[in-house]
Amino acid sequence: MEELSFYKNIRWDDLCDQSFLVMVLESMYDALVVVDSTGLIVYVNPAYTRELNVKSSKVVGKRMKDIAPESIVLKVLETGMPEIGVQSRIIKLGIDVIVNSTPIFKDGKLTGVVSVFRNITTIRNLSEQLEKMKDYQDYLQEQLLKRALPEEFKGIIGNNTKFRSMLTRAMLAARSEITILIQGETGTGKDLIANAVHNASKRKKNPFIEINCAAIPENLLESELFGYEGGAFTGAKKGGKPGKIELADKGTLFLDEIGDMSIVLQSKLLRALQEKRIERIGGIDSIKVDIRLIAATNQNLETLIQENKFRKDLFYRLNVFSIETIPLRERRDDIPILSYYFLKKFSEEENKKCKLSENVLNKFMEYNWPGNIRELMNIVEAAVVTCNSRFIELRHLPAYFTAAISMHRTKKQNESFRLDSCTMKVEKECIMNALKESNNNKSKAIKMLCISRSAFYEKLKKYQIA
Ligand SMILES: Nc1ncnc2c1ncn2[C@@H]1O[C@H](COP(=O)(O)OP(=O)(O)OP(=O)(O)O)[C@@H](O)[C@H]1O
Ligand SMILES: [Mg+2]
Repeated sequence: MEELSFYKNIRWDDLCDQSFLVMVLESMYDALVVVDSTGLIVYVNPAYTRELNVKSSKVVGKRMKDIAPESIVLKVLETGMPEIGVQSRIIKLGIDVIVNSTPIFKDGKLTGVVSVFRNITTIRNLSEQLEKMKDYQDYLQEQLLKRALPEEFKGIIGNNTKFRSMLTRAMLAARSEITILIQGETGTGKDLIANAVHNASKRKKNPFIEINCAAIPENLLESELFGYEGGAFTGAKKGGKPGKIELADKGTLFLDEIGDMSIVLQSKLLRALQEKRIERIGGIDSIKVDIRLIAATNQNLETLIQENKFRKDLFYRLNVFSIETIPLRERRDDIPILSYYFLKKFSEEENKKCKLSENVLNKFMEYNWPGNIRELMNIVEAAVVTCNSRFIELRHLPAYFTAAISMHRTKKQNESFRLDSCTMKVEKECIMNALKESNNNKSKAIKMLCISRSAFYEKLKKYQIA
């Protein structure tokens, strides 16, 4: 008994089989500590010394409040109430434990407390590590989201997968200096993307200069792009004028509708891009320019090349990084989100509280949107302006839109008629085959076709079969 960690004054007389009970306690996996009514530690089992890595002699006979003043055992001694599943830390030992601490009553009197606990330091460490990993994961996710959606791209609405991957490409390109060619139908957001790319690029504090090659008469476009010196031509400003390329120095030049540029000007532009220098019209000196170029077009440049309307070498010079915007009809799943986005925008502007009726949204889903997002935006804006009820209904939409929808329907119905005529063809063929097979015996043919006699004669008449 001496080697056992019993306090010498403990009375074991009451135990029927002392050695057996001791064996049980000593074999326990969980650590066990017993204090008497005064808080004196009277017993610890081997699991205790193993788990807490302390010798029993260091604790047995000591007061709990001296060893672990934070111990839950002291609370149980005070209240006489059990404390179950309490997680706590033995500060002196730097160990985390989970404790079940219960009072021992004898003849209704509190005589001590028995506490069973498990060292959860490893689990706690693991869970702390897990927490940290989770925080890190959250952080990474946040970073990823930030990367996925830089502030400058936030006004670009759409969740369609193809659209999102197009945006990701644009975002990646924004971080570099790469020349971008944006191709896509009218109203699909080419301008919007060009702006976002510039604003998300290193050049964002420098100018973003836009020039629409289709909007400027051909003879003026050259001087708009390259500028001119004073007296270069009649009507030229006295002191000359810098061109857009020069103005875009250190910034971004956005050449919109590049497909509309004349072949002659294309050559001049290509030279300027290759040499990174320009000469003003009528000027002698060449001016060094540092521009990032974004070009856009809604024309098919490959077709223009084949028609000798676009220089192949310029195309390659521009198409270093290509972005293709997606027509709205190919991302119909984005129609609701875009509609609600514009509805909110224009309702706020108009100080109205309009909602889209389901019928209208269904029609939006059906329509082909040749003008893409610009068209949707304009339709919603006009609907908000004209709407005088709670819901935007079909009557608030432009006549051309509702006409297009009903034409679309008729076309669809026509298609179904065509299907009908296919069925008729097959039916006629079946009857002819049956007649052939039965050597023109009509009764036999009727049986083979499994139709009524009257239906058979009706069909003979219909298909003009003799
Ligand atoms: N994904 C989008 N989210 C929100 N607004 C958009 C989106 N795409 C386009 N828009 C809006 O639609 C309108 C047309 O877009 P944008 O001018 O960029 O199209 P585009 O492709 O340049 O057309 P065009 O070929 O006619 O010049 C703009 O007002 C733009 O803000
Ligand atoms: Mg545009």
